[in-house]
Amino acid sequence: MHKLHCRRHSDNRLSNTLSTPLCNSDEIEDPGSRGFEIKHGRNQLSLFVVHRDDVFTAFINRCPHTGVNLEWQEDRFLDMDNMYIQCATHDALFETDSGLCIAGPCVGQSLQPVTIEIIDGVIHVDPASTTHE
Ligand code: FES
Repeated sequence: MHKLHCRRHSDNRLSNTLSTPLCNSDEIEDPGSRGFEIKHGRNQLSLFVVHRDDVFTAFINRCPHTGVNLEWQEDRFLDMDNMYIQCATHDALFETDSGLCIAGPCVGQSLQPVTIEIIDGVIHVDPASTTHE
């Protein structure tokens, strides 16, 4: 499973590999989500962070069905009930913790997780945790 819980107030701070700050953790409502474009080497990486039930998770912004971006509007990745990540194109639903698709045309497939951590209230991402893009 690709379960990624963002560790908060960690004594075992990650490392300098998690070097790209995204935003302050309190800038994303619970429940809520936010998209980001970051540089990774020569490439641009599109990802999003979900905040739900006090847990932060992050995924590459690409639907496993056709590869399109997921959001309905800027920073809107969750469904109307804020229970699942929802693809705007064909309405696939994904679990917010694992990224597993539980309804729609790509059931059983998963969003690609991205490693994040909160350091001093700032969400940091590890671009190296992605295997492509
Ligand atoms: S493109 Fe996402 S469900 Fe079809």
